[in-house]
Amino acid sequence: MLIGRSPDIAPSEITEESVYLRRREFLAALGAGVALSAGVTTPVHALDRTRQDKLTPYDTVTGYNNFYEFGTGKDDPARNAHTLRPRPWSVVVEGEVEKPGPYDVDDLLRGMTVEERVYRHRCVEAWSMVVPWNGVPLRSVVDRLRPTSKAKYIEFITLQDTEQMPGQRRAILRWPYTEGLRMDEARHPLTLLVTGVYGKTLPNQNGAPIRLVIPWKYGFKGGKSIVRIRFRETQPMNSWRRSAPNEYGFYANVNPDVDHPRWSQATERRVGTFFKRKTLPFNGYADQVASMYAGMDLKANY
Ligand code: MTE
Repeated sequence: MLIGRSPDIAPSEITEESVYLRRREFLAALGAGVALSAGVTTPVHALDRTRQDKLTPYDTVTGYNNFYEFGTGKDDPARNAHTLRPRPWSVVVEGEVEKPGPYDVDDLLRGMTVEERVYRHRCVEAWSMVVPWNGVPLRSVVDRLRPTSKAKYIEFITLQDTEQMPGQRRAILRWPYTEGLRMDEARHPLTLLVTGVYGKTLPNQNGAPIRLVIPWKYGFKGGKSIVRIRFRETQPMNSWRRSAPNEYGFYANVNPDVDHPRWSQATERRVGTFFKRKTLPFNGYADQVASMYAGMDLKANY
């Protein structure tokens, strides 16, 4: 991103996390598909490859954020995002799709099973976390909306409202923040439309009420507080690429062999820990996603 590195938040052992871990052990013991109150189902998911990794504490996941609409400091979003009103929330669906329209966010996701996915979360700034997200596979929503045969990409447009997002008064990026995925990436089973974290409603600073998480890509692909989903024939522009095309590409697959022009991507530091670790190709999800990029030069298509 544009700013320098901020100091990591000190590791904090918090009760919330240990209670949560006990709950996960309990669920694991019961096996897949346990219905919780609030209609949330938490299967112990086959796609989940990070069970052995220590979870990043809740306070860090929700206190160390990138959300420039609320400031550029890592602790600004947690402090400032209380002005965001995540309900009622409308999502406009448009473009190459059979079921366009404005949807209330709860109607858009109605009847879908909210899953828990523990994902590695790798930021282009060379830090990472391990986060238990709650959400629905984006593919369930895409299939419900029925893209036409012309739809090759999806553009995600996030909220623009200087009342709710005072940081948009500064031209740090061209607002609103936008992102995009190729249709096969959007329909990949790992791609999640996130509504919660640690089994709780998504806090504003993490992108309430819905944001994207694509675990094999750098975190900036995960647009927060989405208000418009546009099905397109052509590749959309995305905010960071528009602002610094030599630094950020469309694909943004985690690639330890392609340095960011201003720093290496070969290693990363888990927020709250001291030692660096090697960054894995596709953030460790290569066996599940690499085939989507067969034949592509991933140094040119960064
Ligand atoms: N979405 C919006 N609308 N605005 C942003 O500034 N930052 C991105 C992404 N989504 C951003 C955004 C970046 S750079 C990262 S690394 C992730 O959100 C951070 O997500 P997290 O704060 O939940 O860890």
